[in-house]
Amino acid sequence: MTNKTTFKPCDLVIYGALGDLSRRKLIICLYRLDNANLLEPDTRIIGIDRHAHEVKHFIEIAHKSLQEFLHDALDETVWQRFSARLNYLKIDLTQAEEYVQLASVTDNQTRVLVNYFAVAPFLFKNICQGLHHSGILTDESRMVMEKPIGHNLQSSIDINDEVAKVFNENQVFRIDHYLGKETVLNLLALRFANSIFTTNWNHNTIDHIQVTVGEEVGIEGRFDYFDKTGQLRDMVQNHLLQILTFIAMEPPVNLEAESIHNEKIKVLKALRPITINNVDEKTVRGQYTAGYLRGQAVPGYLEEDGADSHSTTESFVALRVDIDNWRWAGVPFYLRTGKRLQGKRTEIVVYFKQLPHNIFKDSFRDLPPNKLIIHLQPNEGVEIEILNKIPGIDEHIKLKKTKLDLSFSEAFKQSRIFGGYEKLVLEAMRGNPTLFLSRQEIEQAWTWIDSIQDAWQHSNNQPSPYSAGTWGPVASVALLARDNRAWEE
Ligand code: BG6
Repeated sequence: MTNKTTFKPCDLVIYGALGDLSRRKLIICLYRLDNANLLEPDTRIIGIDRHAHEVKHFIEIAHKSLQEFLHDALDETVWQRFSARLNYLKIDLTQAEEYVQLASVTDNQTRVLVNYFAVAPFLFKNICQGLHHSGILTDESRMVMEKPIGHNLQSSIDINDEVAKVFNENQVFRIDHYLGKETVLNLLALRFANSIFTTNWNHNTIDHIQVTVGEEVGIEGRFDYFDKTGQLRDMVQNHLLQILTFIAMEPPVNLEAESIHNEKIKVLKALRPITINNVDEKTVRGQYTAGYLRGQAVPGYLEEDGADSHSTTESFVALRVDIDNWRWAGVPFYLRTGKRLQGKRTEIVVYFKQLPHNIFKDSFRDLPPNKLIIHLQPNEGVEIEILNKIPGIDEHIKLKKTKLDLSFSEAFKQSRIFGGYEKLVLEAMRGNPTLFLSRQEIEQAWTWIDSIQDAWQHSNNQPSPYSAGTWGPVASVALLARDNRAWEE
């Protein structure tokens, strides 16, 4: 990966600087990077929006955001340094001629122009045209964009086509914030730096794999967006499929972006399509009804603010995914994700195969399989469940399930675990595309998701209700029970 010595200072231009994404995430992560001395001294941050008029207004908003969302105390010295980097321009993003103002606050001779599109995708085309019109782009310039990159394959092709008129693919950085999470990256280390896993990572030893991304939050005042999107597009198309590609990919030849992207695409291409013929046995959709979370009553999906009381949008999805390649033949991947579940929990559980013969029948009639549990959040870490002899001088050997437990916060006390955004924004400024999504990956993921979406529509598959504060509808338990398996609880 690119190291600090090749890291040029940047003009980081945030379009939508006063919006939610910028205030809640970008300002906070940029301040944290500055605090950790990871921003080049000459890097500048230029906020663009159509509301405020002066830089002092932007600085005030940045200060308020930090007070609200930073969670740590603001360091006055760092704040002085950070606020001195801030600049602001009022631009109506739909007016191409207004972008020429950017030339007065950026310097493409000494700094790399990094354009962060923190606005709704319908404005991406305008920004690209405006930037083109401004004449400030060079081959070094970059653009960073986030999901939703379309709501299906065609709309994602349209966005990518517009962007491609102005930026080459190597200048485009598509963010999935899960790829900045420490444990997702650690999958690479775990799989490709440890021979016990490298040699056992296939259908010979693995029975099946579960991925759970449980959320306690509901739709948080975003009914309009979420109702048109649903959990399949909001979470599976991106975050869960990304986790899946990291679990399932073949060893890349090195850590270069191209090598990793190529392996991920191969996994996406090998996903067995879910169509109208198998959608009922492979998928479960759910929608939460009123319930209790941490002792508090919470409304159902259809009673959320601004809800359409007839909506059939899913807030929960469970899927059985098959990967049609040599390594994973016969090994199902079960994915589930939902809003208003019992807890915020993101984890991968790898179930190894049971042994063919049991010589410890006194302890266990059936020897339970070993499990590797990778916790992504809230407590990042890795656990391995193994069987051990209970110490003692009994006539028979008695076994007990025990855990080899590696908690990241305990094991790496000295290294600060940053959030996903810090890592990704820094890599975009460094110009390292490894942790970003290629166009082909996004389009391949949409192809697979569109087929499920179509199948649901044409089979009239309706979401099953589940009470908020549970782990989803009963049908999700049945999805695994049909295969004689159960979700890790
Ligand atoms: C976002 C989704 O991409 O990820 C949200 O749009 C979801 O609906 C969020 O709540 C979850 O992210 P995290 O990092 O809290 O797991």
